[in-house]
Amino acid sequence: MNRDEAYNLVFDRLGDSPTMAHCLACEACMRALADRFGEDAAMWGLSGLVHDIDLDECHSDMERHALVGAEILNSHGADDAVVQAVLGHNNKAERTSRMAKALWVVDPTTGFITAAALIRPSRSTSDLTIKSIKKRMKDKRFAAAVNRDQIRACEKELGIELNEFLQICLQAMDGIRDQLKLGIAQE
Ligand SMILES: [Fe+2]
Repeated sequence: MNRDEAYNLVFDRLGDSPTMAHCLACEACMRALADRFGEDAAMWGLSGLVHDIDLDECHSDMERHALVGAEILNSHGADDAVVQAVLGHNNKAERTSRMAKALWVVDPTTGFITAAALIRPSRSTSDLTIKSIKKRMKDKRFAAAVNRDQIRACEKELGIELNEFLQICLQAMDGIRDQLKLGIAQE
């Protein structure tokens, strides 16, 4: 499965939606992390891009989330490492590979960075700082649904300090901020 096939497969199911933007954000972060580790950026990016492919059809039964996705991906010949990472992000398989661990940590991080960007004057990542993200992480009421421990697990799971991890993800997301529809004025 190449990137175009993966994109079309996901876009067919999610359309032009916040979940699609979230998948693109995860793709960008996963590619950047793969570069950091000298790993396969194409494969890591693909895992991020496809990980929530079934989210729309599973939203009423999250126990099926990732299982359905794995079936779709298998039937389209996705690499088993990608399928395992997708399963692992919703605790449907043990996260044994570094890629699977990275996806699990990146998933809540992109959501949190998006939430932190949207309250900036620019409504964008362009003027968002690591300091500001970390301050928000300490505010329990802000984006309360996002699990901070899963973000901080970058240190234990990936061996990257939180500051560097957030910097990598912020930079990756800022690089595609137009695709993420960040910075678009809501008037
Ligand atoms: Fe996700």
